[in-house]
Amino acid sequence: MDQLRNIVILTGAGVSAESGIGTFRDSGGLWEEHRVEDVATPEAFARDPDLVLRFYDMRRAGVQKAEPNAAHRAIARLQRDWPARGGGRVTLVTQNVDDLHDRAARALGLGEGGVIHMHGEHLSAWCTACDARTPWHADLIDSPPCPSCGARALRPDIVWFGEMPYRMEEIIRAVEEADLFVSIGTSGAVYPAAGFVRSAAELGIATLELNLEPSQGTQWFDGARHGPASEVVPAWVEELLGAAAP
Ligand code: NAD
Ligand code: APR
Repeated sequence: MDQLRNIVILTGAGVSAESGIGTFRDSGGLWEEHRVEDVATPEAFARDPDLVLRFYDMRRAGVQKAEPNAAHRAIARLQRDWPARGGGRVTLVTQNVDDLHDRAARALGLGEGGVIHMHGEHLSAWCTACDARTPWHADLIDSPPCPSCGARALRPDIVWFGEMPYRMEEIIRAVEEADLFVSIGTSGAVYPAAGFVRSAAELGIATLELNLEPSQGTQWFDGARHGPASEVVPAWVEELLGAAAP
């Protein structure tokens, strides 16, 4: 690599595991207790909306009790400090629907909008009548009216299996323009996110995995550091900012 400027970071459930938010596919993970087909598909919502809304109301409540951990804070620090060191940018793409990256960024005084939530957000509701998205902290089970149009047609603003992830064009462009692609706390089981590393590697972009264990896409990474995100991520950020120091 000639000069390291633009960095794309992809995160998954593992980055929030130490904040007490369970992952999906680890032992004891969410998809052991709940069938994806029952709670995380458009067909499930059409068949039994109350079951789906109760599931997401429970998850939303859990997310609001959690706090960012050292990994979220280190990534926010990199987003804040990296541009001043080398003039590049850090694009943060998360599969997570919690707001822990956003809160860590806010705590450092970073503006809103620095986190791309490709699978949606728990703290947002989407009106299927007027298409408005509204910040949302309460339950959805009682079908509250949409603040924009009044219709009782709100659903979780979550990308379910079989639906189109958000902001794909922007993410693909960021990957193509990256000098380094880093994947943190994701099993690499769900596409299209799981395919970003292969796209980056085929473009000759350096790739790094930070995860508890080798992910499903491990062969596409040039380097890997395995361990808890709260340890490996701050150590990596320290090294990067230290190496770039003037
Ligand atoms: P998928 O891989 O079939 O597609 C994801 C969605 O993204 C699709 O709607 C697709 O149209 C869209 N998409 C793909 N490429 C895109 C691009 N370049 N731009 C815009 N949109 C794009 O995903 P899925 O149905 O969400 O399932 C993901 C994987 O997870 C599947 O392989 C599935 O078998 C697996 N899965 C695992 C579990 C589990 O672990 N328990 C449960 C369900 C599904
Ligand atoms: N530190 C680092 N990595 C960890 C930690 C930790 N403390 N704890 C677990 N991990 C790793 C696991 O080893 C695993 O590889 O995080 C990964 C979590 O993988 P998944 O549970 O599959 O989560 P994720 O990859 O984010 O799932 C992708 O699947 O169900 C959908 O839409 C949902 O966004 C989600 C997508």
